[in-house]
Amino acid sequence: MMKTIFPGQTIGIIGGGQLGRMMALAAKEAGFKIAVLEPTMDSPCGQVADIRIVAPYNDQTALEELAEVSDVITFEFENIDYEGLKQLTEIAYVPQGAELIKITQDRIQEKSAISESGCPVANYVACQNFNELVKNIEKVGYPCIVKTARGGYDGKGQQTIHSSSELELAGPLFEHSACVAEAFVPFIKEVSVIVQRNKQGETYCLPIGENIHVNHILHETIVPARIEEKTAVLAIEAAERIADYLQLIGTLAVEMFVLEDGTILINELAPRPHNSGHYSIEACNISQFHQHIRAICGWPLRKPKLWSPSVMVNILGQHVMPVTNSLLKYPDWSIHLYGKQQAKKNRKMGHVTIMTDDLDHTIREIEDSAIWAE
Ligand SMILES: Nc1ncnc2c1ncn2[C@@H]1O[C@H](COP(=O)(O)OP(=O)(O)O)[C@@H](O)[C@H]1O
Ligand SMILES: [Mg+2]
Repeated sequence: MMKTIFPGQTIGIIGGGQLGRMMALAAKEAGFKIAVLEPTMDSPCGQVADIRIVAPYNDQTALEELAEVSDVITFEFENIDYEGLKQLTEIAYVPQGAELIKITQDRIQEKSAISESGCPVANYVACQNFNELVKNIEKVGYPCIVKTARGGYDGKGQQTIHSSSELELAGPLFEHSACVAEAFVPFIKEVSVIVQRNKQGETYCLPIGENIHVNHILHETIVPARIEEKTAVLAIEAAERIADYLQLIGTLAVEMFVLEDGTILINELAPRPHNSGHYSIEACNISQFHQHIRAICGWPLRKPKLWSPSVMVNILGQHVMPVTNSLLKYPDWSIHLYGKQQAKKNRKMGHVTIMTDDLDHTIREIEDSAIWAE
């Protein structure tokens, strides 16, 4: 079943975080209505939605209610209950389907899907339990990173292991789920490609972002990524290949490592708009959120164009006060705050996008700024 969704109709979003909020804001520009399913009352997306359904994401009655009020349903996070989503596809229009969620919420399935698409990943083994890890770790060697197959984010659910004597540090991870152990990649850069595709198969990538993490949390995205042309070609080819293999509808963020020789390895996938694509709101002729809405509504996609080199910097809890105190000094900063009440340390509260003619200068300015010192 393929549908075209028009302004005036309602887009249902599962998840009320900042990604949902920015999707909603993009959709509302064109006159769509927004319904959101989210367990908390005053969520970032709930604040801008027309209809709020306050219930757990896997609440069957709430999902039915969402289906009732929505002409199309999308999601803003990947840890939705697969069975629940699958059932939803039978009673509502969910053009993205449920299969991509199933794959990307499990690192084991995700890595095999990436490999099957013909793209390279770091050497790894999948382990159901600690004994399997002990038995198979020599296939990967040291140093390596053990990651829970399910539920990790911002570096949570990971343990770096330098030698066999440290292996037991990975033991507790198995209390959560099966794990993958993957070789430590001596990357020179991390980049991401956001690829978007509609039901007609039209596929476009946003300009490649270079990602700088601090404490495993995205700190900065620099666009265009400072990589060789041949690396850029490999990155775009890989993202398009994976999108095609998965028959993507909507948005897929592909995180990659760039190696010394200019080749890439795929790190992980996110089946939704991504923090590293926020720069596109100002810096491109089409933002990741607008394109996502076009894709799920069955509209033709727009070929992305970068207006200007840009830097996106995340505003975590500890940055809110210093940003607020400085923002009047920086007319070139586009400030985004997501409407979260509690500015907890390391919680993503917002971001700043700076379009600049002098990338190096802007990057240095951010590095030297006291705002992001912590
Ligand atoms: N195999 C690896 N080798 C080196 N660094 C890694 C490796 N896997 C992850 N990292 C680092 O840890 C970060 C978080 O890991 P990732 O797998 O993206 O998990 P998540 O983003 O879900 O927390 C990566 O962005 C990268 O900086
Ligand atoms: Mg990641």
